[in-house]
Parts: sequence; structure tokens; C-alpha cells
Amino acid sequence: RLGLKTTIFGKTIHYLESTDSTQKVAHRLAQEGCPDGTLVIAEEQTNGRGRLARVWHSPKYTGIWMSLVLRPKLPPAKAPQFTLIAAVAVAQAIEDVCKISPDIKWPNDLLLNGKKITGILTELQADSDKIDAIIMGIGMNVNQKEADFPIELHDIATSLAIETGKEISRSNLVKRLLENLEKYYLIYLKNGFAPLKLLWESYAVSLGKDIIARTISGNIAGKALGITDEGVLKIQDYNGQIHEIYSADIEIK
Ligand code: BTN
Repeated sequence: RLGLKTTIFGKTIHYLESTDSTQKVAHRLAQEGCPDGTLVIAEEQTNGRGRLARVWHSPKYTGIWMSLVLRPKLPPAKAPQFTLIAAVAVAQAIEDVCKISPDIKWPNDLLLNGKKITGILTELQADSDKIDAIIMGIGMNVNQKEADFPIELHDIATSLAIETGKEISRSNLVKRLLENLEKYYLIYLKNGFAPLKLLWESYAVSLGKDIIARTISGNIAGKALGITDEGVLKIQDYNGQIHEIYSADIEIK
């Protein structure tokens, strides 16, 4: 037991020794009508997945592989903000437990020394005007050694243990993470994203930098200005025009 101080998140926990993907399990539970704040967490995923159908490497006992089902009464257009809420909650949990401060790369990556430490996957079950469930997947690289990562990830991914030189308590981290997530979720439901914007921006690496945003409708190069009160990224291109980006892969130049 984690001794959680939360009232919604993790009240119902599905703990799995091994599963294909906690995201898949959480989707199924959501369809079956599970309560708000249901947590699915596994020691290992045999088919973990990331954004854009990428593979998410999830070896046994080394990381935090979890998916939360949230049922806010909101329109589907609000869903991307949940990625930003999760990023802030993860960043603070890492700070609290590991005493190091990660960077957030909009929208869903957390980095240490430029390498990925956590990925967030926010998916939606909704009809056209309201959210039925948000499935918030979080994958945190915690105690992997360098040799635990496939060779092609050595330059792009890292773990908290590698970065701090210490073994990290995964249960402390999960507990802090769930407490932070619930705190920010409740603030968000009450007051919207605006109160979280400054906090988010304090961790953001790309702001003020030259970036390329690869979107489905093409690439936009320019300076990252910040995010709006809705969590949308603002980029100023080299002709001075400002673009609002809802979804993209960002490359920092
Ligand atoms: C990304 O950076 O592309 C997002 C990675 C999300 C990985 C997590 S691990 C728990 C949950 N289950 C999955 O299969 N994926 C998410």
C-alpha cells in the first residue's frame, strides 16, 4: 500500500505484474464504466506504446508504467491540456523525490540533460460534445541502467537512476505523482488551465528558442513564444507571423 493522501486518484487500483499495455487495459476499464481516478499500473509492459504508434520500452521492475482514467465533465477540445497538467505533476514529483529538476518539452516530453525521462500519452473516449474518459498514460524511466535501454535509445533516453547516480524508490515517486496529479487536476477543474500556466512555463525548455514544429499540416519554423491560457503553443515565424499549435513534434534548434 502506498498510503496515498488522495481522495480520487488511485482509490481503485489495478496492479498488474505484467501486461501488454496499461493504456489498453485502462481503455477497456473506461468502456466498462470504471470510476474517475482509476489507476492501472504494471511492473512490466510487453507492448507499451508511445505517441504516433511508437514503441515504449517498459522492462520489469525498473520504471513506472501507469494509466489513469479521468472523467471530467468537459468538451473534448480540452483534452490536450491534460498532457500539460500531467507534465507539471511529473516534473514536481521528480523534483520532490530526486532533487533534480527536469525540463518539459511541449507537449509531452520530460527531459534530463536533453534525454527523455518521461513520456505522456493522453487519449480520449468522447462523443462530439463531451468527454467520456481521458486515458492518461505516463511512462517514467526510473531505475534502468544504461544497458537496460536498447542501443538505439542510448542518445535519446535516460533514467532517474542514471542521472542521479542513485536507486530511486518507485513507490515514493508514484505516491508523490498521484498526489500532485490530483492537486493540479482539482485546481484545473475549478479554475481552468490559466493558474497552471506559469508553473508549466517555469519548466519549459523550448520557450524563447528557435524550434521547428512538425504538424500534420506541415512544418513551422520560428521562435517559441509561450503557451496560451488554453495550453496551446505560440510560435512566431521568421516573417513575424504568430501561429498557434495544437499538436506537433518539436525540434529545438
Ligand atoms: C510518448 O512519449 O510517446 C508517450 C509514452 C507513454 C508511455 C506510457 S507507459 C504507460 C502507458 N501504457 C502504454 O502503453 N503507454 C503509456
